[in-house]
This record gives sequence, structure tokens and C-alpha cells, in this order.
Amino acid sequence: MLIERLKSIVGSKGWTQDASELEPHLTDWRNAVRGQTPIMLSPASTEEVSKLVRACADAAVAIVPQGGNTGMCAGAIPDASGKQVILNLARMNNIRTVDPLDFSMVVDAGCVLANIQQAARQVDRYFPLSLGAEGSCQIGGNISTNAGGINVIRYGTTRDLVLGLEVVLADGRIWNGIKTLRKDTAGYDLKQLFIGSEGTLGIITAAALRLFPDPGNATTTLIAIKNAGNAVPLLAKLRTSLADRIEAFELMGGNTLALVERHIPDSKIPFEESYPWYVLIEASVEGSPDVLVNALAHCLDKGLLLDAVVAKSKAEAARLWRLRHSIAEAEKREGVALKHDISVPIGRMEEFLARAEKLLREAFPESEQFVFGHVGDGNLHYNVHLQRASGDSEYEQKKARITALVYDLVAEFGGSFSAEHGIGSLKREFLSRYKDDTDLQLMRGMKKTLDPANILNPGKVI
Ligand code: FAD
Ligand code: MLT
Ligand code: ZN
Repeated sequence: MLIERLKSIVGSKGWTQDASELEPHLTDWRNAVRGQTPIMLSPASTEEVSKLVRACADAAVAIVPQGGNTGMCAGAIPDASGKQVILNLARMNNIRTVDPLDFSMVVDAGCVLANIQQAARQVDRYFPLSLGAEGSCQIGGNISTNAGGINVIRYGTTRDLVLGLEVVLADGRIWNGIKTLRKDTAGYDLKQLFIGSEGTLGIITAAALRLFPDPGNATTTLIAIKNAGNAVPLLAKLRTSLADRIEAFELMGGNTLALVERHIPDSKIPFEESYPWYVLIEASVEGSPDVLVNALAHCLDKGLLLDAVVAKSKAEAARLWRLRHSIAEAEKREGVALKHDISVPIGRMEEFLARAEKLLREAFPESEQFVFGHVGDGNLHYNVHLQRASGDSEYEQKKARITALVYDLVAEFGGSFSAEHGIGSLKREFLSRYKDDTDLQLMRGMKKTLDPANILNPGKVI
């Protein structure tokens, strides 16, 4: 019987069927979806993953890979059938090697992101992927969703940080693509297929990652601005004045930060008065802070900013970043339901925001927008709150119409309805609506080739 075979592969520490232990693994971080499973498997090695996948393939049973379960699209949750097994990577958490001369490291897929950052720092190197969930998300999950986060503007998305992968394929074979080469044109770059594939093409068991020199203590500044449109010329000015030493540039609506103040204890916006918009920046200007102060003064003269607070200590900088990183949690507590993780060309962001606001005001005057995000990458979290005043079915219909309004406008601007959170199970219908037929045919072809029996995370993405 399959379950007994799976248990014997991982041993007594590698599985659970206990309802209370399973509970946190059956619901996604946003509590949007709840699934069922007969068993959660926690293998300790790539060989165990390989054997588990082979056993499931023999029995035609579906596998749902799960990392830290912090994803925003419910990609790591089994469906409600109670037949899909969860394969949780948490026990595979070894840092295999760190090579400061090669500026690279090789890690198991279940390593928590914050531990990877720390291991790099110990050898005076820097792994730049950083996001609010870094204390619990795993590198395998980051790679599978091609996560973005706050440092994309300087270092790119997760895709740009991956040098090689080790992947267990749908028939249990192990593909060893662990290399730290920067240049390799010998055939197709297979790792790219698995990055961002959300567990539907293979199970990532290890990764070779790119490291950078430690940028040292960056300067954190919270800037108040009059309108979101000013963020783009402000960014352009600071990038040029600071010779591109902007590590992060995050936009936050005043009402969004007010949510954080309301729901997150000990959080406080450090200005006397409230402003309509804020930008939090991180600039690596250690040794020449005047460059930043002069650039900010110039932006003040030009009317691009209203006020600014430069953090004077690490603790102050951490307090400012806590405001930013608490937005997702504050929104969850508030019950903001409609998240739109969109991107548009940076140069058209101001126009997009004005159009979206006008359309929503006219069609849904009772809605309120909570906007924040990674402006330097053209990525906004354009979230809309709608009071549940009307009956349930009317409320659900309105939500669908709001999302269609936002995504249609994004499409008109040549943007993406999913910038950094992926598709999971929550956004599948939009993939078929907004991707063109050739895209979809190629994606289906890839899925068929790599997972012909459809056992890897079925019901997700495609
Ligand atoms: P999970 O949620 O466990 O899984 C995500 C997907 O990857 C699922 O489809 C799963 O099946 C698959 N998967 C997981 N591990 C593997 C593996 N080893 N092999 C194959 N498939 C696998 N995202 C951003 O891009 N930018 C942000 O700034 C950001 N901030 C966040 C802040 C908060 C507070 C939270 C809760 C989430 C945030 N996210 C952000 C969402 C983000 O996608 C995740 O935090 C992270 O990348 C997912 O990692 P995870 O280990 O939790 O993956
Ligand atoms: C963020 O930028 O904070 C994340 O992507 C999470 C979110 O959108 O809620
Ligand atoms: Zn984000």
C-alpha cells in the first residue's frame, strides 16, 4: 500500500497524519483556501525525495510541494479531495557550501531565507533577496515563485540570483544542475524552466546561489511625498545622484501605513503630521552620507518631496523597515480582501494610478485603495477594500468586477496581473484570460513533457 511505502522511505521522523500537526499546512497564509491530505511527508535528503516521487508516480498519486507556506496564491495547499500528499521540505535545511572567493553558496531547498542571508554575512558576503516573510519562507519556495522583494531594483528577482539547481523530476529521476558557472551556453538553460514553476514541473531539492560584496551599513530614509506620481522622478533623480546606489525604494500610501499603526503594536510613522504618500529608501552611501543629504535637498527644492527622516541608528532603520514589512500582516488583520500584485511600465505608473483611481471612484465609490509596493520595479500591490454592506452574492460579484477592472487596465498598459506572487490556485482563471494562446500552448507543452501523468502540484498554475 502506498502510504506504508512512503512512511518506510522517510522513517518515523519524516511523516505525520496527526490532525493538529497537519492543521497549519492545510491553509494558506491568507486563509483563502483550505485543503485536505492523507499524509504530510518531510524527507531528509534528495534521495528520499526521489524515492517518494517514484512511489507516488507508480501509484498515480499527486504531490504538493510545500516550503514555508507563506505564498500569496495558495500554491502550496492540497485540494479538498483528501488524496494529494504534501511534500514538505523543512527538514532539508543544510547550507552545503559557502565559497566567498567564488561569490556563491550551495544550499538545500528547505533552508529558511534569513538563515541563508546570515550564512553569507558570516563570510563577509551578501545574499540580497529580502522580503517580509524571510524568517519563515524557504529558498525552494522563493525560487519556485521567482520571488521579488525589496532589493530587485539593484540585484534582480530570485531568477537573477540562481546559478544552478538540483531537481527531482516527476518520475523520480534526480537532475543535477548544481553549478556556480556565470557563463554556460552548452545547450538550453534548463534551470530557468523550474524557476517560477510553482512546483508543477519538478521538486527543487537544492540551489547554487549568487553572492555579492556586503554593501555595509546602508542608510534608511523615510520620505513623505505629495502624490504617488512624484515617486518615479524622485527615484530617477536619486538613482542618478547616488550613482545607482539605491538598494530599495518602496512606495506606501498614507492610508496603508495608517493600517499598520492601527494593527501592529509599537508602530509609529515618525512625522508630526500625516502625509498622503511615503517612500522608504535604502541607499548604500556609507562613508559619503552628504551625497544623499544633498540629493534629498535638491529634490525638496524641486518639489519632489515634502519631508524626510534619515535613520540615525540601526534600531531606527529597523523600526522604519518594520513599518513596511508589517503591511501584509496589518492588511490581513483589517480584512482587506482584494489583492492585486501588478506591474506596469515604470514610466507609465503615474498615469496608471490616476486612471485606476478614477475608474474605481466612478464604478465603486464605496471602495478604498491600499497601494504600496516595489515602485523601482514597476510592481505595485494595488489592493482594494470593499465594505461588506451588500448581500454575499452581490459582494462577491462586485469583487470580481473590481479585479476585472484593475487587470483589464493593467493589460491595456502592457503590464502583468502577477508581478511577483505567481499564479498558484487563486489566479489560474486570469492566466487563461490574459495570456495569449501561444503562451498557453507552450506552457501546456512544457507541463506535458516534464510531468505527463500530472502528479506534480496539479490544479496549480496551468
Ligand atoms: P510556499 O508558500 O511553501 O510555496 C510557494 C509555491 O512554491 C507553491 O506552489 C509550492 O508548491 C512551491 N514550492 C515550495 N517549495 C518548493 C520546492 N522546494 N520545489 C518545488 N516547488 C516548491 N513575495 C514576493 O515576491 N515579494 C515580497 O516582497 C513578498 N513579501 C511577503 C511578505 C509576507 C509577510 C508574506 C507572508 C509573503 C510575502 N511574499 C512575497 C510571498 C512569497 O511568495 C513568499 O514569501 C515566498 O517566496 C514563498 O516561499 P515559501 O517557502 O513560503 O513557499
Ligand atoms: C509585500 O510586498 O509586502 C508582499 O509582496 C506581500 C503583500 O503583497 O502583501
Ligand atoms: Zn511585494
